[in-house]
Amino acid sequence: MAIIDKALAGKVALVTGGSRGIGRAICVALGKRGAKVIVNYASREDAARECAAEVEAVGGQAAIVGFDVANATAVNDAIKQIGKDHGALDILVNNAGVAINGMLMRFSDDQWKKVLDTNLNGAFHCLRAAASLLLKAKSAGRIVNITSVVGESGNGGQIAYAASKAGLIGLTMTTAKELAGRGVTCNAVSPGFIETDMTAAHLPEAARAKLMEQIPLARIGRSEDVADAVAFLAGPEASYITGQVLRVNGGMLM
Ligand SMILES: NC(=O)c1ccc[n+]([C@@H]2O[C@H](COP(=O)([O-])OP(=O)(O)OC[C@H]3O[C@@H](n4cnc5c(N)ncnc54)[C@H](OP(=O)(O)O)[C@@H]3O)[C@@H](O)[C@H]2O)c1
Repeated sequence: MAIIDKALAGKVALVTGGSRGIGRAICVALGKRGAKVIVNYASREDAARECAAEVEAVGGQAAIVGFDVANATAVNDAIKQIGKDHGALDILVNNAGVAINGMLMRFSDDQWKKVLDTNLNGAFHCLRAAASLLLKAKSAGRIVNITSVVGESGNGGQIAYAASKAGLIGLTMTTAKELAGRGVTCNAVSPGFIETDMTAAHLPEAARAKLMEQIPLARIGRSEDVADAVAFLAGPEASYITGQVLRVNGGMLM
């Protein structure tokens, strides 16, 4: 069994979209390392509660908080309350995301708005609301944004999703430059194809076989693969890494 130290003991972490999939694995990975994890969800309070129980089972502390990252007022209120309830915010993981697939010429304004509001504006809302707490964090705040391989390469049929994820990379680098003076780091993790609710629903067998041909490590990624990279960037070994995009994609894009 891998030995994991408690490098994040005493830290308070907020993970948006922590109730399911990659976000949930991130909550557990941070909890395993001793963090107090605040699990955000949009509608699945049941799943957030299950995640919190999982975090506690691995030795972390957990709380849940429901808010829609697309709603700036709700984000401001929730993050202010986190500061009051927990006294600090050391780690922010912008993971909440939605995928609505569709080609350029058939994509509606509403679809575009939903994807950009959640994936890009949502991260901006959380960063802006959390920045003052992260700047006050005792041993330098940490931010990790979850982008995607398609934000780096583009992907036919994912016009809004790819644009939102490319935008997150610009947001990451600029935040890194603006907050570096106080030691706060901001990085992105860029997953390839990871098996979660978001992807499983969209993938027929033939497409899965085709996809495997593009992954040199010849397997679909696990949420834990992404979570370990996030925990590294949130931990003490990554204090000199900022403004970077760490790819966790099995070699799909090099
Ligand atoms: N899966 C992949 O292959 C893959 C690859 C690259 C990047 N990513 C990125 O990784 C992140 C997680 O993806 P996933 O596959 O784990 O997705 P998922 O299984 O569909 O889970 C999405 C999570 O985001 C939350 N969420 C959605 N809209 C939200 C909103 N407006 N406000 C707050 N929370 C919201 C959901 O909350 P509820 O439970 O309440 O619905 C859920 O916890 C996303 O940013 C995604 O783009 C995924």
